[in-house]
Amino acid sequence: MNIEYKTGPIDGIVQPATVIFITADPGKSDGDQKLAAFRPAFLPLVKAGAFKVGKPEVFPLQGAGGGWLLLVGLGQLTRAGLLESTAKATKKLSGLGVEAATFVLPDMGLGKLEVIEWLTMGVSLAMDQRPAYKSKAEDKPQSLREVTFLDDGEDPGPGQAIGTIAWARAVAKAQLRARALTDRPANLLYPELFAGLALELAGDHGVSASVWDEKRLAEEGAGGVLAVGSGSSHPPRMVVLEYRGPGAGGDVGPTALVGKGITFDSGGLCLKPPENMALMKTDMAGAAAALSTVLAAAELRLPVWLVAVLPLAENLPSGTAVRPGDVVTTLSGQTVEIMNTDAEGRVVLADALALAQRHNPSRIIDLATLTGACAVALGDSVAGLFCSDPALTEAVSQAARLAAEDVWHMPLHEPYGEKLDTELADLRESAGRLGGAIIAALFLRRFVAPGLPWAHLDIVGPARNPAARPSCPEGATGFGVRTLLKLLSAGPVTEPAA
Ligand code: BES
Ligand code: MN
Ligand code: ZN
Repeated sequence: MNIEYKTGPIDGIVQPATVIFITADPGKSDGDQKLAAFRPAFLPLVKAGAFKVGKPEVFPLQGAGGGWLLLVGLGQLTRAGLLESTAKATKKLSGLGVEAATFVLPDMGLGKLEVIEWLTMGVSLAMDQRPAYKSKAEDKPQSLREVTFLDDGEDPGPGQAIGTIAWARAVAKAQLRARALTDRPANLLYPELFAGLALELAGDHGVSASVWDEKRLAEEGAGGVLAVGSGSSHPPRMVVLEYRGPGAGGDVGPTALVGKGITFDSGGLCLKPPENMALMKTDMAGAAAALSTVLAAAELRLPVWLVAVLPLAENLPSGTAVRPGDVVTTLSGQTVEIMNTDAEGRVVLADALALAQRHNPSRIIDLATLTGACAVALGDSVAGLFCSDPALTEAVSQAARLAAEDVWHMPLHEPYGEKLDTELADLRESAGRLGGAIIAALFLRRFVAPGLPWAHLDIVGPARNPAARPSCPEGATGFGVRTLLKLLSAGPVTEPAA
């Protein structure tokens, strides 16, 4: 798809299709004036309440010449609202078989570059087409090929709009990549395959990458990843990626990203019930987000230094599987008593966090579909943010706001840490259901050097979308990619959060 930006008067628009955003709130959007300038005849329809302008609804009107006018109710006047409305309009245009459309920039209380950013994101994410493994391919053509953003106001400055479009397209592409990887069935994406793919993609993007196979994992003493992967005939892997952007580095160490990469989580010997077990193919959403972020940073040539560590394992029961009661020695040297083989995420992350620290990072951010408890606490669209460093907490929260991803700061409540004490080893890996998300985070913290800024995002809820919305089909969401890329880049958008 081609996306262009131009300035000009609305009444000069050439059909085939024009999209105008309207809100129910007069004064909060200028949709009415824009409509009056473009097609005054349709204004009475809006005034008469012919469609619900306050909802993200698309109202297509066909003109005499066969062209389309799409009136789009903007719904919430937020980044997410604009994203969904745009995606909905895009889907509608494709449904109508339209090949080229002009989107008139709405004036809605967001800076102009942000409007351009979220229009781009909406148009791009609406094109998400999941692969289906059907024996007979179904043809789902996307007709829309040419998109123009029409600005009837002032150009924000040379190259600004185009730069924003390019940036948002790269972010959307990364998010789509993370979604596709996450949704891939576990028989088609096990640790060796994931690692191979990561190497290949890294090579294509000028990112350096290395992989520890099971032999190397044993030599290095990565007992956590090995224990979790020991029940599967697909051996575990640890992938390390590094990207050093132009001018990045100096005295400041890299930002380390760590992503949980359980390609399938059956629970191991502590087997999960069959209901919803199929969803556990998405237990590598954190690794997919970290990988996609590094690739996008390289593509965008962001001036940052990044290291990503992806611990990849398949958690299955078998005669060789790790048992409750086993004690394993992790890469840091700390010993862990396994209590419940379904708490495998933190065990692989223990090794990955230790490995990340060998790169002397200035900060670590991990992403993991870690605990059902976090989804119970925050639901299916908010991630838990665990972070004891105030500056990093603020930076991640601010990035998430600007990225229209929801995170909520959760407490690393110190006293619960005692529950991880055990006579047998340095610590045990789980301690019952109460406060499960916090206890998991406190477990991870034992593997991070005191004082090193570290943030843990439990993305268990938002990693998966239970029902389709315009910007995302049912399934993996690619959550985290947008927040990380915002964090890593001042980006073209510098406005403070609304
Ligand atoms: N991968 C799961 C968490 C999860 C739950 C992901 C629901 C997606 C949907 C994780 O490995 C897990 O099983 N956690 C256990 C921890 C418990 C055994 C301490 C949980 O949350 O029940
Ligand atoms: Mn588990
Ligand atoms: Zn898991």
